[in-house]
Amino acid sequence: MDLRNWLKEVDAKGKLKVVRGAHWDLEIGAITELLIKKKGSPALLFDEIVDYPKGYRVAANTVTHASEDPTRVAIALGIREDVNSTRELVYKVKDRMPEWEAQCKNFPPAWVEGGPVMEEVYREDEVDMLKFPSPRWHEKDGGRYIGTGCGVITQDPETGQYNIGTYRVMVHDKHKVGIYMAPIRHGLADMRKYHAQGKPAPVVITLGQHPLFALVGGRPIPRASGPAQEFGYIGAIQGGPVPVVRGEVTGLPIPADAEIVIEGHWHPGAEMDEGPFGEFTGYYGGMVEPAPYIVVERLYHRKDPIILGSPPGKHPSYGTNVFSYAMYMRYLESIGVVGVTMLSTHRLASSQMAAVSVRQRYAGHAREVGHLVAQLIGRGVNRYVVVVDDDIDVTDIEDVTFAMASRADPAQDIDIIKRAYTQRLDPLLPQGLPREQYFNSRAIIDACIPFERRANFPEVASISPELADKTRAKWGNVVDFS
Ligand SMILES: Cc1cc2nc3c(=O)[nH]c(=O)nc-3n(C[C@H](O)[C@H](O)[C@H](O)COP(=O)(O)O)c2cc1C
Repeated sequence: MDLRNWLKEVDAKGKLKVVRGAHWDLEIGAITELLIKKKGSPALLFDEIVDYPKGYRVAANTVTHASEDPTRVAIALGIREDVNSTRELVYKVKDRMPEWEAQCKNFPPAWVEGGPVMEEVYREDEVDMLKFPSPRWHEKDGGRYIGTGCGVITQDPETGQYNIGTYRVMVHDKHKVGIYMAPIRHGLADMRKYHAQGKPAPVVITLGQHPLFALVGGRPIPRASGPAQEFGYIGAIQGGPVPVVRGEVTGLPIPADAEIVIEGHWHPGAEMDEGPFGEFTGYYGGMVEPAPYIVVERLYHRKDPIILGSPPGKHPSYGTNVFSYAMYMRYLESIGVVGVTMLSTHRLASSQMAAVSVRQRYAGHAREVGHLVAQLIGRGVNRYVVVVDDDIDVTDIEDVTFAMASRADPAQDIDIIKRAYTQRLDPLLPQGLPREQYFNSRAIIDACIPFERRANFPEVASISPELADKTRAKWGNVVDFS
């Protein structure tokens, strides 16, 4: 299972557009940004990129913007039946998750001797990170980002556990790339353990591979899921272990079917200016700040390699979200919270604003759900959680606004959490603030009908589904209701 198979499958469904002749400097980013927010937008494959040989390609809109078209994410997750809405996809994912979690431990990566990624191998001085058409995605990006939908592979030196995390990767020069990792990332924790032992931290980064790596690497898979965690999870989803080749200098697993993989070390204290980068908050995140850089000692790639791009920006929407909605709903169930029917961060605000619907069963139910979700989603940047009743569609921002405006009493239905976790990409953090002062506050807006008033709350003055059907059937040929 590799990126090329996924592209073929998406193409067969008429969901792939090949674009030839675009420039790596802004054009790939601009075309992507203008296209991806359109309903039913296709995946993009850029070829014949200016300054680069034909065949050196960039894929974009692969598993992003699931709310505009869930098909691409569904294909990546091996869901072959038609999926018509984000809600439907979330429920399909949620139904499959127990099986994936149970199977995770049975799929540690499978060591193999070689694979397509070894078609071209470059060592030490031969390494040239500038040989790829890494896009400058947004006008004010501080550099060219080769890693946006990538997988950063690390190992905990104490437990041996592998981790895959999706963290942005900027090309500094021929031999160096920079990474931005938020303080709570597992990959950062793994690497810091090597530094604590006075050693450079080994790392492998896959920069083009099956989109499942970005889907799984972009979400915090519970560490309890076994020593292979993300590898096991990918294996469970695809129904077979991920074939990996042992890295020459780090011994870390290199996905054998990947398009481009680098291997090297983060040396203690090695930091260079990185950023800014148009981020998922909708802003250039973090400005220019020192961030870890990796000395690339090995470069492996397939012939005609493909970078997997997943650029964020204003009004972003990651396919990974579908995965997290299902995961968070399962977490809530696992601690005994009932009645949560759908959870969503809207693409207008990304994780900065979430909405969750609940079938209220007891006094305080809505508030309980709101506070829990405020912390679950909060591992990115979270500010607002709106809790609504189940008659409200949380994926529809207009419906959520309707509930907020009519059911949330400002004097009693807004709770504030102060001094919560945030990261430097939070646009509200003043520039230059010391890291120990990275706090934000969060509001939980309880936009549910007050529990004690459910029996006599005014009824919503909207057409019933039965009358709507009857009217469409009788008048549909006179009035266009579509
Ligand atoms: C497309 C995409 C890009 C991301 N970029 C970054 C990033 O640059 N830095 C970061 O710390 N987290 C980033 N994240 C979030 C992490 O990948 C996510 O929190 C993941 O759970 C981290 O893995 P870990 O829990 O194993 O550290 C990104 C997520 C996605 C889906």
